[in-house]
Amino acid sequence: MPHLENKPFGTAPDGTSIDLFILDNGRGVEARITNFGGIIVSLFAPDRYGHRRDILLGFQDALGFAQNKPYFGALIGRYANRIANARFVLDGRTVQLAANDGNNHLHGGIVGFDRVVWKARPLEEEGPALELKYHSPDGEEGYPGNLDVTVVYTLTLAGALEIRYEAVTDRPTPVNLTSHAYFNLGDSPDILGHELRLNASFFLPVNAGLIPTGELRKVDGTPFDFRLPAAIGPRLTADDEQLRLARGIDHTFVIDKKEGELATAAEVYDRASGRAMRVRTTEPGIQLYTGNFLDGTIVGKGGRAYRARAALCLEAQHFPDSPNQARFPSTILRPGEVYRQTTVYDFTAA
Ligand code: GLA
Repeated sequence: MPHLENKPFGTAPDGTSIDLFILDNGRGVEARITNFGGIIVSLFAPDRYGHRRDILLGFQDALGFAQNKPYFGALIGRYANRIANARFVLDGRTVQLAANDGNNHLHGGIVGFDRVVWKARPLEEEGPALELKYHSPDGEEGYPGNLDVTVVYTLTLAGALEIRYEAVTDRPTPVNLTSHAYFNLGDSPDILGHELRLNASFFLPVNAGLIPTGELRKVDGTPFDFRLPAAIGPRLTADDEQLRLARGIDHTFVIDKKEGELATAAEVYDRASGRAMRVRTTEPGIQLYTGNFLDGTIVGKGGRAYRARAALCLEAQHFPDSPNQARFPSTILRPGEVYRQTTVYDFTAA
């Protein structure tokens, strides 16, 4: 039977009690989500024989997530990925944000949406669902305006985890939300054997600080061409300047679709287990991150040390640094407008 239950999950670093919400679709898929950072703690999905496995990197308990440097499973905001020099000009005024990645601003700053306690409420949608709300006050991490954010996680009977985001503001502000789950669909300690297809003819090359140069580059003839399914491992060892800069793939792919349309961005398949994941989104881009900064020093669930390539992230989002790049789709939300995003992760096995 599909159902939702919740239990205490200890305390957030500020001492607030937090909960773990268990969403079970009654057909083998189960998501465990805490209202601290809106983190997806675990996602159990069956392989082709029905054996379930937690396919997410993360920690056993709240204490582990108190130091969640890689952003395992977290909701990211106000702005996913980097803003160059933690600064941009909006309506003629310079806005200075908190710098937390060298001189740059990364994933919302020092205390991003991944490190705050959200107000949680179970809902009944097409399956068990969890509504999370957060009020981001004017000036938080340097951002202008009060931003009210609602995220709804729904686990459908068909085995999809649907994430719907909404936000409203009382002053113009950039908004770019995403989910930073680290997936490993198989039993192997890395994702090198995962086969990936990306619905993207262009990607965004970056500079040494991992800020997009502004160019939309054709994937043709590069290791970034995943328009036909390809194993990830061999791509990462190709001789390529962009791979060297990012120590792997840590790039935005421009999804081939119409603006605002919910379209397939990515498909991942682990042949050994038969598990497959499809990502559909209304966003224009998807950040593929191959866990390049993981170096074995973080020990997660089951005492496992997470090394580079232990998992991959597919973060649906607008383009990094858009507030500084006039040619990228705008990420500015104005009073009276509603920010909306839908991203769906489908899990199947064959
Ligand atoms: C994103 C970024 C990476 C890195 C990770 C978190 O994927 O693009 O550069 O910051 O998050 O470690």
